[in-house]
Amino acid sequence: MEKIKNRVKEISELLNKYNHEYHVLDMPSVSDQEYDALLHELIHLEEQYPVLKKNDSPTQRVGGVILDKFNKVKHDVPMMSLSNAFNDEELREFDEKIKKVVGPVTYVAELKIDGLAGSLKYQDGVLVQAATRGNALIGEDITTNAKTIKSIPLNVDYKEDFEVRGEIYMSKKSFIKANKERANNNEQLFMNPRNAAAGSVRQLDSKVVSKRNLDMFIYLMIKPELHNIKSHSDALQFAKNNGFMTNPHTMICNNIDDVINYIEKMTKLRDSFEYDIDGIVIKVDDISLYEKIGYTAKSPKWAIAYKFPAEEVITKINSITFQVGRTGQITPVANLNPVIVQGSTVSRATLHNEDYINERDIRINDYVIIRKAGDIIPEVVKVVEDRRLVDSVKFKMISKCPVCDESIIRKTGEADHYCVNPECDAKKTEGLIHFASRKAMNIDGLGERIIELFYNDGFMKSIVDIYNIKEHKEELMLKEGFGVKSINKLLQSIEDSKQNNLDKFLFGLGIRHVGEKVAKVIASNFTYIKELYTVSVDELISIDEIGEVIAKSITEYFNDPVNQNMINSLEDLGLNLKYESNVNVKEEFAGKTFVLTGKLEIYKRDEAKTMIEDMGGKVAGSVSKKTDFVVYGADAGSKLKKANELGVKVISESEFVDLIKR
Ligand code: IVH
Repeated sequence: MEKIKNRVKEISELLNKYNHEYHVLDMPSVSDQEYDALLHELIHLEEQYPVLKKNDSPTQRVGGVILDKFNKVKHDVPMMSLSNAFNDEELREFDEKIKKVVGPVTYVAELKIDGLAGSLKYQDGVLVQAATRGNALIGEDITTNAKTIKSIPLNVDYKEDFEVRGEIYMSKKSFIKANKERANNNEQLFMNPRNAAAGSVRQLDSKVVSKRNLDMFIYLMIKPELHNIKSHSDALQFAKNNGFMTNPHTMICNNIDDVINYIEKMTKLRDSFEYDIDGIVIKVDDISLYEKIGYTAKSPKWAIAYKFPAEEVITKINSITFQVGRTGQITPVANLNPVIVQGSTVSRATLHNEDYINERDIRINDYVIIRKAGDIIPEVVKVVEDRRLVDSVKFKMISKCPVCDESIIRKTGEADHYCVNPECDAKKTEGLIHFASRKAMNIDGLGERIIELFYNDGFMKSIVDIYNIKEHKEELMLKEGFGVKSINKLLQSIEDSKQNNLDKFLFGLGIRHVGEKVAKVIASNFTYIKELYTVSVDELISIDEIGEVIAKSITEYFNDPVNQNMINSLEDLGLNLKYESNVNVKEEFAGKTFVLTGKLEIYKRDEAKTMIEDMGGKVAGSVSKKTDFVVYGADAGSKLKKANELGVKVISESEFVDLIKR
């Protein structure tokens, strides 16, 4: 047995070495056949002697584990994002702000790889956890998938526990290969390498991930000071020394001019890289300055992402049509000669509103420049004037809703037109589509096409009708394309959606200005929907994140008896309209209102807030008699004073930590 154990160890070490040479150093020293022969020998030995199979064995690279879901992982340190700069001026501003606080600094400039962020944790030299970013605080455990990524070492020489982060990506070559295979199998193609990487990482079958040839560049070390690492460049060197892949085009820059030169150089080289990049990341090198330079709620102030300008493409507008959204908002849309922009075909682009078109004198039959706004929604940027044709047709805004033919309005001070007819079919169907959509009630099988079909047949004119649709089961089954099985499946997902948490329902209602995040804030603060029937604007704006515009929209919606009736009917039909904070509820926090004030040192604001909410409490922006605790940090001012005046319990940040640990 000892002999076999030694052989397993020997092959594992060789395979790890060959893997590193091939995938990280790009310098293979053995042939593929030799590698495969050793791998198969190891697979065979592990099958014969399962006790010898270790967690970090190179055989794990092959995949094979099939999960039924990804577990959630709470990040020890939030996975922050970066703020953006779009030109030299904004980069110089970033530099000036830093200089003001700490004086001149050295920067590290790196490529901004276009993939998805991942974090890797090692214990005793072994990869023990890989996670996605998720919502920055909580991500998904993708350890088995990460083990199939050959540029991630399964074990390292350094034996202290540590965490590194980086970008998981798919090379352009692997992307083309993956899409060829998908085309052969009649599968939908990946839109771009970023999408392909993100989709692959979320595959439940790790064997599939193994075949996708993902890679990972490390770009950040967590708590470097614990490992006696003093600069970001040293952190990258540490990663490299331990077998991680770091990007070779990283450069130390002595000042912002060097950074700007680097950007210019990399912009020229952009297409020659084997992977997509969407910008350049600039970080202060000296880690000891980070705390002093500080953080915003979402990103460090010691780093910034310079984003390349979006790709602009010229095409022709064939016609302008109008789309009616669920709020009745009418958007003019340009129908275009199809063109490829940043990897996907675009045949329609938004023209935003009447003013936008008139200010740019955009006409039908014009050649225009289009780009993807925020890299997602295609928009018309401007007209290519010297290509204007004699048959160009001047734009004229419509005066009636293109769907219901009722008059439309434009409120003073607003740029958008709205159809205000509550019975407008477009508004109603769009509203239903939104209600059933993935981020709202997530009713599987109730997509755009089915909703339009049921709507036009009169079965589904309102949200209440969704939950009564089972009464029409027999009629639905007579429809072409529907069978007992598909109808039963649909009815089951409608039934299942009744159990959704309140935030999903609130978001699904499609109230103006209530997006996913606001819905969650409202749901966790009020916990039962009927509390919103009587809520005041003032009460709402006392909540962090809720401003006057949102507050007014919410009160307007819930004061309306038509909406109240609908909600009451839905409750009668068995929908859950309560918020259940499902995580870690603690007696000391449940139902309690906290106000955070002053500079917190142990936690960031966002972290403290999430923890309070996780444990069943709420966080308000201002102190009132209803406040249960005021947590104060350094330099706390008026809120602390008010709390003392009102006799509200005040606790220091360390007392707050004790309360959490209790
Ligand atoms: S640093 C706290 N460096 O860009 C700073 N990010 O919002 C953490 N990205 O999704 C990010 N290349 O995954 C950093 N060299 C690089 C990067 C990089 C790509 C991604 C990152 C995140 C986004 C930044």
